[in-house]
Amino acid sequence: GYLREPWRPQFHFSPEIHWMNDPNGLVFHDGEYHLFYQYNPAGNTWGHMSWGHAVSRDLTHWEHLPLAIAEADGVMAFSGCCVVDHNNTSGFGLGETPPMVAVYTGHGHGRQVQNLAYSNDNGRTWTKYAGNPVLDINNPDFRDPKVFWHTPTDRWVMVVSLAREKVVVFYASEDLKHWSELSRFGPAGATQKSNWECPDLFELPIEGDGGKKRWVLEVDMGSGSVAGGSGGEYFVGDFDGTRFTATQDAKWVDFGRDFYAPVSWSDIPDSDGRRIWIGWFNNWETCLLPTSPWRSCMSVPRVLSLRKTTDPADPDGDLVMVQRPVEELQRLRVQSRPIDTTAATWPPTAVTEPGELTDMAFELETTLKPGTARSVGFRIRTGSDEFTEVGYDREPGVVYVDRRKSGNVAFHQAFAGRHEAPVRVVDGAVTIQVLVDRSAIEVFINDGEAVISDRIFPTSRRPTIEVFAGDRSAEVTGTTLHVLKSIWH
Ligand code: FRU
Repeated sequence: GYLREPWRPQFHFSPEIHWMNDPNGLVFHDGEYHLFYQYNPAGNTWGHMSWGHAVSRDLTHWEHLPLAIAEADGVMAFSGCCVVDHNNTSGFGLGETPPMVAVYTGHGHGRQVQNLAYSNDNGRTWTKYAGNPVLDINNPDFRDPKVFWHTPTDRWVMVVSLAREKVVVFYASEDLKHWSELSRFGPAGATQKSNWECPDLFELPIEGDGGKKRWVLEVDMGSGSVAGGSGGEYFVGDFDGTRFTATQDAKWVDFGRDFYAPVSWSDIPDSDGRRIWIGWFNNWETCLLPTSPWRSCMSVPRVLSLRKTTDPADPDGDLVMVQRPVEELQRLRVQSRPIDTTAATWPPTAVTEPGELTDMAFELETTLKPGTARSVGFRIRTGSDEFTEVGYDREPGVVYVDRRKSGNVAFHQAFAGRHEAPVRVVDGAVTIQVLVDRSAIEVFINDGEAVISDRIFPTSRRPTIEVFAGDRSAEVTGTTLHVLKSIWH
């Protein structure tokens, strides 16, 4: 209940107890979306890393399952991926049903190596391959493999990170057991400050471009990212089955402080065709969040695409990666109503009724027209001298989340802050979709062109929403409020 766990996410995935970090082994198989994750089965801080497990049929409601891959003999099970081996190339399959194969990093005895585990019962039980490791280059920072079937060359391709060198390495295999190096990429992008972890590589459609696609390589850095601490960057380019070539400069994945190590689902059927990923809703720097008996949640699953944001007539125009919450989440909307926000002015005024948002999980969709005002936006989760602010600021042209007064900000000195995403103002307007959970806020700007993901820990139980504008030239229009029901009951 609320009193016992006031910050328990109501529509974001969280483990019932104990510590969680990166999503792992995301794979769709036989009607189920599998979500494995870095998990400490013994406590509420990082350690004994193993793979926790949950499944969902709708990417919204999750069934918690027993531990899938456990730490053993001083070797932790670090991050990795999962594939369905449809042609039984590995030989792990029994009869007609293809095996699920996990490819993960074994961390221990001073090295990081790549290991396999397999399941012949829809991921319910796992066997570690007796021939592990399958890839060992005698390196202490070699981790987080992501594997996919590359149809044109008819083989498995792996992208894996040499973390300290800020390099990813591509390997190929016929059977998931023997790997040969193809090429390397990096250092590139923001190379100054940190390591590279948890790479992913996939093809994305360009919106409205008749099925044209481009490859995207995503990498994460433990520190030194755009809002401080951990975060991801991506490169748009080409992958010819051997080598990745970036055709644009690196861009940031998310402008908040709490979106790390996202990876995408493998084996989503062609009939669906979506590329969906989920990220760890956290930051290594401030990861000791003030919750118990669990720590951490995931972002909402997001659908990815590419969008041209420069001159549409320029075929080489810059592409940005667009992220949108999966449509399945809309089924949680128990009540939707327009709210009148047209009279936005200063000071901020309440636009919701007392008691309307008691469960504190909701979505707000709106259009901000800044006019000549310095800023315009919303305050949510308000209390006495407490609020989280989401708005547009014309100098320097950003949407921001300000969590400096969001509640408990004192648990870590780097937590309080304001996080900004540079945005386009199209015809005088910026659209935002704000997802608010009991301890999290995700802001999707201009239909997913930029995202700000931040955790918040409000102490107030007054979930009122207020609207504000610096002056009356600003307009806030088309505002819809959706109250969301909990996934826990
Ligand atoms: C990223 C990471 C990975 C590693 C895992 C360990 O957050 O550091 O590189 O596999 O966490 O838990």
